[in-house]
Amino acid sequence: MTDPKDKKVFVKTYGCQMNVYDSDRMADALATKGYKPTEQMEEADLVILNTCHIREKAAEKVYSELGRIRKLRDAKRDGGKGDMKIGVAGCVAQAEGEEIMRRAPVVDMVFGPQSYHRLPDLLDRADNGDRVVETDFPVEDKFANLPKAKKEVTRKRGVSSFLTVQEGCDKFCTFCVVPYTRGAEASRPVAQIVAEAERLAEAGVREVTLLGQNVNGYHGEGPDGKAWGLGRLLFRLAEINGLDRLRYTTSHPRDMDEELLVAHRDLDSLMPYLHLPVQAGSNKILKAMNRQHTYDDYVRLIDVIRDVRPDIALSGDFIVGFPGETEEDFEDTMRIVREVTYASAYSFKYSPRPGTPAADMKEQVEATIASERLYRLQELLNQQQRDFNASKVGTTMSLLLERKGRDEGQLVGKSPWLQAVHVQASEELIGEIVTVHIDNIGTNSLFGTMIEDRTTIGTPLHNQAEGLSI
Ligand code: SAH
Ligand code: SF4
Ligand code: F3S
Repeated sequence: MTDPKDKKVFVKTYGCQMNVYDSDRMADALATKGYKPTEQMEEADLVILNTCHIREKAAEKVYSELGRIRKLRDAKRDGGKGDMKIGVAGCVAQAEGEEIMRRAPVVDMVFGPQSYHRLPDLLDRADNGDRVVETDFPVEDKFANLPKAKKEVTRKRGVSSFLTVQEGCDKFCTFCVVPYTRGAEASRPVAQIVAEAERLAEAGVREVTLLGQNVNGYHGEGPDGKAWGLGRLLFRLAEINGLDRLRYTTSHPRDMDEELLVAHRDLDSLMPYLHLPVQAGSNKILKAMNRQHTYDDYVRLIDVIRDVRPDIALSGDFIVGFPGETEEDFEDTMRIVREVTYASAYSFKYSPRPGTPAADMKEQVEATIASERLYRLQELLNQQQRDFNASKVGTTMSLLLERKGRDEGQLVGKSPWLQAVHVQASEELIGEIVTVHIDNIGTNSLFGTMIEDRTTIGTPLHNQAEGLSI
């Protein structure tokens, strides 16, 4: 038997940034039971797959991975090296629950995203031989019940961190599983978020990305008892010493309110980058998707955003081959991309998801047609990304140095526009924000020269949002 103090956990993360955040929270909860993280799955006493259900491919990956893990577990047992418990967490767990137990007898625990604070109890039950399925949406506050990471642990995780402020979605786009897997939209109270952000800053974190499936729909309770929007929350977080960079993702075009635009105008620490998915350009398809905005609504909104923050870089998500999409509809997607111009983007072939309205729609688009459209769209988006990166050559910018690069003496940092930038710099500068001159571009990153090893950015000048007419 392994000494309980030496138990090891391996967490494999799929899907979005919220799963990355959640995986760390699971590791924190397990630390209270003596589990330490390991990078080697074969030596783990507990393996957790934190899964994603967004497209069929993502969900199916889980089952093939479970087959591989079963072999590792059997080899560990046969070699007299102890047992290996196996848990499936995340959105596949929430969506498929019992079905996973049926399809994969190797699994000991299945638990959804709202149960992570209960993980130590679930593990006790699994240790007693139960096969545990926990997919309820509990009444208690998950976040308030999750243990806090030790300072050293947070520090090791790096100088840029995620912080979930909102979870779930009430928008019900007809293609999307998220409202079912993450539940109804819920916002954490301001005080809880501020306390977590302060702990991150004390541990040396310089950049925080606020997360939510609909992060700009944030409406958490403020210290005054009133609901605060995301803009107001950003103003409050910008006051925290050491947090020099703020970001947020993912936003919905319907929820960009005035206070958030004011934050983009007035907060130096709010980075000039906005992920604002449009999904498609055709009004007919947008309606069938239940996106609740039109082509023109979106383009008008982008104009306002660029007005208040001219250097903002935009990023988006696109779906091609949604049921009923004709060549003409697809051309509208190409048109909106040309009109808006994106610094980066994610694009996907529509994948029918069980239980969502679009899966039952007639006129599903043939796979070969969807693939061909995706190819054309990605050509255009890649070209826009290259153009955006090239536009930074010869400029100077601030850079948060995050980690060592592959070459000797090289560090990799992040630009305000989320670009990876390579520079020659010594290791002790990791965690510093420096000024660099951009010399040239590679395939997916920039190369620069450091011209100053410290900058002083990020102190908000305005605490009170002034009015803004939109
Ligand atoms: N909360 C985010 C989206 C989360 S899912 C938002 O509202 O924008 C991330 C992206 O996956 C979506 O923006 C969409 O482009 C894509 N996606 C979601 N469901 C999909 C499906 N059924 N098929 C293909 N892509 C999908
Ligand atoms: Fe899914 Fe739409 Fe909600 Fe985004 S807004 S999570 S795409 S239902
Ligand atoms: Fe995937 Fe769930 Fe995130 S379905 S994209 S892991 S919210």
